[in-house]
Amino acid sequence: PSSSALSPRSTPPSPVILTQDELKKIAAYKAVDYVESGMVLGLGTGSTAKHAVNRIGELLHQGKLKNIVGIPTSKMTHEQAVSLGIPLSDLDSHPVVDLGIDGADEVDPYLNLVKGRGGSLLREKMVEGACKKFIVIVDESKLVKHLGGSGLAMPVEIVPFCWKFTAERLQKLFDNSGCVAKLRTFGETDKPFVTDNGNYIVDLYFKRDIGDLKAASDAILQLAGVVEHGMFLDMATTLIVAGELGVTVKQK
Ligand code: 5RP
Repeated sequence: PSSSALSPRSTPPSPVILTQDELKKIAAYKAVDYVESGMVLGLGTGSTAKHAVNRIGELLHQGKLKNIVGIPTSKMTHEQAVSLGIPLSDLDSHPVVDLGIDGADEVDPYLNLVKGRGGSLLREKMVEGACKKFIVIVDESKLVKHLGGSGLAMPVEIVPFCWKFTAERLQKLFDNSGCVAKLRTFGETDKPFVTDNGNYIVDLYFKRDIGDLKAASDAILQLAGVVEHGMFLDMATTLIVAGELGVTVKQK
């Protein structure tokens, strides 16, 4: 072989494979580009939203953002924001939120979401429901054709009182979809997972399509004992997806 064939220049560049966490960070940083000084912000929860909150803290400290007020969607995000020196408030004082940024477990083509596999769905839904603009940030693994079709959990927050009764009624609602309802526990233990609001979570697993999402949502919310579910229908205004081929922004 000629010497030029051996030179480093002739080696094709190896593709850079980004980790899932790096993709989450790219989506999160892109969302923070939409944040402006003076905004009231909904601060999401989870490994993707964590990057956005870190970035907001960083920009605040650099003086590039001023007069931000954050409304955290969980105790965990509250602690993170406090550690970063982000001024915090709540919906009682700020019933209208300028911009919310949060991750999701599933996103369908209409920007409907499943959230709450991290357990914070109730506060997320309250805060994000009050947002004028709600940006969802995901890596491309979260994109689905139909919510609930991934074989992963659809979380429902319920009161602890007679939780088995409520879980059975939830499962029955979706008999036709081969639903199995399971109480969420701490790891491998039998100890129920307890939400920030002192409630339990029942995860619904579907074997078949759940059909009309609005009808499913209404049916779940009609059950006494249910506090809220993790379907976020018609709430997201913007979707930012980071994938191997780059970042895409989709507006509703
Ligand atoms: C927590 C949530 C999270 O936003 C969702 O679970 C996505 O989490 P992650 O960014 O860690 O994948 O809804 O209740």
